[in-house]
Amino acid sequence: RDLPLIMGIETSCDETGVGLVRGCELLGDEVASSVEQHVRFGGVVPEVASRAHLEAMVPTVHRALDSAGAKLSDVDAIAVTAGPGLAGALLVGVSAAKAYALALGKPLYGVNHLVGHVAVDQLEHGPLPKPAIALLVSGGHTSLLLVRDVATDVQSLGDTVDDAAGEAYDKVARLLGLPYPGGPHIDRAAREGDPRSIRFPRGKWGDGTYDFSFSGLKTAVARWVEDGERNGSDLSVPDIAAAFQESVADVLTRKAVDACVEHGVGSLVISGGVAANSRIRALAEQRCAEAGVELRVPRPRLCTDNGAMIAALGAEVVAAGLPPSTLDLATDTSLPI
Ligand code: KG4
Ligand code: ZN
Repeated sequence: RDLPLIMGIETSCDETGVGLVRGCELLGDEVASSVEQHVRFGGVVPEVASRAHLEAMVPTVHRALDSAGAKLSDVDAIAVTAGPGLAGALLVGVSAAKAYALALGKPLYGVNHLVGHVAVDQLEHGPLPKPAIALLVSGGHTSLLLVRDVATDVQSLGDTVDDAAGEAYDKVARLLGLPYPGGPHIDRAAREGDPRSIRFPRGKWGDGTYDFSFSGLKTAVARWVEDGERNGSDLSVPDIAAAFQESVADVLTRKAVDACVEHGVGSLVISGGVAANSRIRALAEQRCAEAGVELRVPRPRLCTDNGAMIAALGAEVVAAGLPPSTLDLATDTSLPI
């Protein structure tokens, strides 16, 4: 009860998220998604996302407060995603957060969306071990982070040099004629396929970095499909999906566990929308067990974009005694870690 009640606001992509958190306790978490409005375009349309955030913002705040049994006046501080993300989308959340902070006379904290994806694990598994390695895999990002303190000391070890992991899933799904967003569809199709039926390349495998690359893999799948169509051979979507997924899961989990071993870190957090992937989870479990590393994967609802992750990070920032943002807080579409 002594801990401050933090309201977190997230609008970096197509989810309007509002979360209420006290320390590691999740009290409210409401998400309004505009994903259906983007399906026919095969990807998020920024202008459409911004308008949807504007419409959803206030109702989502009130739904989150209701579900937490709290009133606006109970909120002690407001945390908001300042970046990275879509410019217009971020502006809606930051403007709303400033208005709430000003109206309530409560401090405002602009935080990093990527670090929020790591902080959210505390709501599921309790305080994060220090240090931890975090693998962040979503539609927009693929990052490996060394997290000594989630509020004050997060270091990037590696990133994708081209497509994000989720982007690769979405592009390959499109090649296979599966709907957007493609990740869950590939995951499902792969269950009926044989991952060893095709050997697709492993981008940046064993290159001595913690960077990732998925565009070569995507091209290899495209070529496989083209060749198959030209030769009139029977293309097995489940086999292609399984082999593609195996390549992604293999590289991601190998590098993440290697980072734990190299840095002597005993805990790995995997978060972001792609963390819902069944093969990534299974392979990470196996490799973490072999390396004696504890694996922490938040439930899918917390892995995808939401406001609770921003509130969870806000709670840590407040606890660390960092200064609040001023009302001229700027958004940054490529905010660094
Ligand atoms: O974190 P998220 O909800 O939004 C972003 O910040 O990007 O991640 C969305 C991404 C999409 O690319 C989607 O295809 C992927 O996560 N995804 C999956 C699965 N579920 C969602 N990818 C692989 N396997 C899944 N089961
Ligand atoms: Zn995200």
